[in-house]
Amino acid sequence: MAHDHPQHSDARDHAHDHAHDGTHPDHDAGLADLLDLDAEVLGAYLDEVTAWAAQHAPDDPRRVVDLGAGTGTGTRALGRRFAAARLVAVDRSEAMAQRLRIAADEPGLAGRVEVVLADLDGVWPKVGAVDVAWAASSLHELADPDRVLRDVHAALRPGGLLVVVEMDTLPRFLPDDLGTGRPGLETRLHDALARAGWNAHPDWQPALEQAGFEVAARRTFTLDASPAPARAGRYARAYLSRVRGALDGQLAADDRDTLDRLLAHDGPDSLLRRRDLVVSGTRTAWAARRPLPVSAAPVSAAPVSPESTSAPDDPFSAAMEAFVTMRVLGDSRHGLDSLLDAPGEPAAGP
Ligand SMILES: C[S@@+](CC[C@H](N)C(=O)[O-])C[C@H]1O[C@@H](n2cnc3c(N)ncnc32)[C@H](O)[C@@H]1O
Repeated sequence: MAHDHPQHSDARDHAHDHAHDGTHPDHDAGLADLLDLDAEVLGAYLDEVTAWAAQHAPDDPRRVVDLGAGTGTGTRALGRRFAAARLVAVDRSEAMAQRLRIAADEPGLAGRVEVVLADLDGVWPKVGAVDVAWAASSLHELADPDRVLRDVHAALRPGGLLVVVEMDTLPRFLPDDLGTGRPGLETRLHDALARAGWNAHPDWQPALEQAGFEVAARRTFTLDASPAPARAGRYARAYLSRVRGALDGQLAADDRDTLDRLLAHDGPDSLLRRRDLVVSGTRTAWAARRPLPVSAAPVSAAPVSPESTSAPDDPFSAAMEAFVTMRVLGDSRHGLDSLLDAPGEPAAGP
């Protein structure tokens, strides 16, 4: 499954002057700045997502892996939610790994985070047996997400949970009428980005099921930072700078001029000075479990019907009865697995 991931395009990043280390950062460092601003301005919703995820997670998870962890926004939220868990943060970017190592020393996380620099498009990293896996805004960036989903499934303990989060609608910052240029600029930008495949992702449910998961729930979270916090201007500028780079050559001349006035460090239209910004967006999350093996299913608790009190004496009838019983329990997938496949291994991964 191929997905566009223009965040990794060579688009010039106008946010480079916000680098923390004063050096001329590469593209990933620009993305890292943007991720940190996103977390600062919109990150509060993550506690809601992890609370929701915890309802579908095994009790007291011990090992949690954050796939495509970026600067550690998800790792931190997972660390808050699963206070006894060890956390493994995986990313292929050295710029992200540097920030993850800093996050790993923060109070509350110290001693609990392992940073793994690994390309998920290559071989599956040695993360051990996992109770909860998390992939936020990263699955759609992978060259072969179906393969990675199978690897995640194998790494999860039976009953373990994978949470996939994707940005449903891109962040919005601007009022329709900016008082300069043609109204509706941001809508036109979003339309152009959609045509360019920015952030495109499918409904992950079929791919998750194909990889062997049971999708327990799916939920859309609305993000709304209003009134816009002080950092909203910097976030808007970092974000729209990337948009400007990605759409270079595709914008009408007047829209490009308006955008440049917004991106200017100074001037009456500068995003850094405006007081009419809003910050909003939506993200969708899927909670998918690796099913428990059939032997762990509560077959003995099945309501026993009069017809099934005596065990059939041939193996095929016995298997069919077990299947029917599991269907009665609403667990047809386990039943089918038990008849057609070998039960899953108890734990995979080195
Ligand atoms: C849009 S960022 C999301 C970061 C973080 N999950 C968050 O929600 O803030 C996507 C991250 O996935 C990482 N990534 C993309 N492809 C990857 C791959 N093949 N292997 C490992 N990490 C990858 C990128 O380096 C980046 O840090």
